[in-house]
Amino acid sequence: MSHLQIAEAKRRLHRSELAVPGSRPELFEKAAMSRADYVFLDLEDAVSPDEKETARHNVIAALGDIDWRAAGKTVSVRINGLDTHYMYRDLIDVVEKAGAHLDTILVPKVGVPGDIYTVDALVTQIEQAKGFSHRIGVEALIETALGMANVEAVAGSSPRLEALHFGVADYAASCRARTITIGGLNPDYPGDQWHSALSRLLVACRANGLRAIDGPFGDFGDPEGFTAAARRAAALGYDGKWAIHPSQVDLANEVFTPPPSEVDQARRVLVALEEAAAAGRGAAQLDGRMIDAASARMAHNVVETAEAITARGM
Ligand code: COA
Ligand code: MG
Repeated sequence: MSHLQIAEAKRRLHRSELAVPGSRPELFEKAAMSRADYVFLDLEDAVSPDEKETARHNVIAALGDIDWRAAGKTVSVRINGLDTHYMYRDLIDVVEKAGAHLDTILVPKVGVPGDIYTVDALVTQIEQAKGFSHRIGVEALIETALGMANVEAVAGSSPRLEALHFGVADYAASCRARTITIGGLNPDYPGDQWHSALSRLLVACRANGLRAIDGPFGDFGDPEGFTAAARRAAALGYDGKWAIHPSQVDLANEVFTPPPSEVDQARRVLVALEEAAAAGRGAAQLDGRMIDAASARMAHNVVETAEAITARGM
């Protein structure tokens, strides 16, 4: 362990994040009633230029009209990127008018730490001016070659930052990768062509106390493909994955919920190590396998996630 202590971002259950276009207000109530842990109301790529302003109004109204927290949701808004002229008004209007009801802001196409600095500076001023009692979190989409090249610096850029998301579609475009479906695998590549990016982003997150979230899987008619992608991300350590259609919410929740057998095993590890400690030993054996303090840290992760899921009650 380094002498440097990493502060963990605010804990939030983040197994599934349902994307909802801000231009389709008829979906908002359905999203609030869904089983997703998180919902993001989108002002960016799911909204056409002609609808940007209407979508912004819809989203501001929905943050106030729907009780997202009572529905057990963390609610986020994806603003437009810093390379557009929509971004400043998205941020200022949404936070000024509805910041009291907003949990986080998702910033797309983050390329450099200064992008987060800009958002942080504005949100900090609005929060102070409005006297909001809670801190609005910031989340960054890493989905360009520039963002991935700077992902470690971005991850450490602000205490307001809570999570990084891997945006596979724009990332593929930015890298000029040959893809078949959004988030799917190209059979020409032996293995998972996104592995290196997913892994790098995950490490940048964990080194800075952030959650790591896998982005979209576009073919919502392919539940097996979605589940396989989610399982690859979960194996690396990701907290959750986007759902771009309601049918993907339960799939994500299932993959990112530790199964009861894993939770039981984690509890057994903790008990066995407590007993070993009482007997003056650090390492012990359980079912013929060595366990030690590293096993306890892995077991704590599992038990904490399971407790957060139980506390949420769905
Ligand atoms: N949130 C909440 N409800 C949704 C939803 C969403 N994102 N997408 C679909 N639904 C609802 C539909 O209204 C429909 O409800 P009903 O049974 O009461 O009629 C039901 O789920 C089934 O929807 P379906 O007809 O299969 O989908 P669709 O043709 O209406 O929409 C998409 C398909 C992909 C266009 C839509 O799911 C969508 O816009 N997803 C999000 C896209 C997005 O935000 N992209 C940006 C991030 S990558
Ligand atoms: Mg994108």
